[in-house]
Amino acid sequence: MNNRILELLEKQGGSYLSGELLSQELGISRTAIWKQIKKLEAAGYEIEASRRLGYRLMGRPSKLTMQELGLKLQEKQVSMIHGIRLFDAVDSTQNIAQRLAEDGAPEGTLVIADQQTNGRGRMGRKWVSPHGKGIWMSFILRPGMPIHFAPQLTLLTAVALCRALRAAAAPLDIGIKWPNDLLIGGKKISGILLESTAEEERLRYVIAGIGISVNLTKEDFPQELLDIATSLQIQLGRPLGRAEIVAGFFAQFEQLYAIYQKEGFAPIQTLWEALSVTLHKPTKLIIGGKETIGTPIGLNEQGALIVQREDGTRVPLFSAEQVPPAG
Ligand code: BTN
Repeated sequence: MNNRILELLEKQGGSYLSGELLSQELGISRTAIWKQIKKLEAAGYEIEASRRLGYRLMGRPSKLTMQELGLKLQEKQVSMIHGIRLFDAVDSTQNIAQRLAEDGAPEGTLVIADQQTNGRGRMGRKWVSPHGKGIWMSFILRPGMPIHFAPQLTLLTAVALCRALRAAAAPLDIGIKWPNDLLIGGKKISGILLESTAEEERLRYVIAGIGISVNLTKEDFPQELLDIATSLQIQLGRPLGRAEIVAGFFAQFEQLYAIYQKEGFAPIQTLWEALSVTLHKPTKLIIGGKETIGTPIGLNEQGALIVQREDGTRVPLFSAEQVPPAG
């Protein structure tokens, strides 16, 4: 019941919903509604009540709870998560997941924190991870496959994330920038960091790290990132529930991971290409340390980006950093 009330208040996007309408919609008395509202407040939701206008959602709990995460994963019928480690603050969820993996933690172990004090991105960059504002999480995979398949897992993760965020933050137009950034209108809202450990060319485990800027405001970003980074809240004009997004992501991921294990990379490739904002646009790229202009035209079966150079030759790119065109 609590969930249904929350859902209806969320749909209002910060405007009032009358007690009468709520009670009609849910088929319970206004006193029963009021009691449920008190329960939501006790769970950390900020709800403003007005005798005349009804209720409106003003804020969400700044802490994730095991209860909410468990409930949302159950609602979305996610079965791949085996053990959640939830922290208030950590240096980086990657480090904790890595230690757990070394100690034998199984595939599907999830480490999630309200804050990271030393969150890291690709290429040694820092990842802004303020308290209670985003999703900072890492999970363990043990795919037991040859190491050269690891890039495919990054692309699969990007597709799952893009689909989950599109569903959670409709109608925002979210796309994938190769290899693993999620963008809205050219600004980054989420990043993926896959770190693999292999033995004799086979993956022992992969730590898939995901950062999603959910409810950050402009003040949460350092000045130098404001032109290139954004959050779902800034774009939508209202906060979103983090546990719901976590669960939505794993629902997508487990579906795609099962397809991938059964049918290989081809179906994931098609989905990735359809969600990509990188393809068919001439772009400045750094290939072999040199800046060059090329047009990404698709992925190959290993998950490399095929780039056509100005002279017509094609090169596969696995991890070159792409420089966005000016403007
Ligand atoms: C990138 O786009 O550069 C990748 C960003 C990955 C950030 C996430 S947040 C959770 C996990 N822990 C980290 O320290 N990094 C990843």
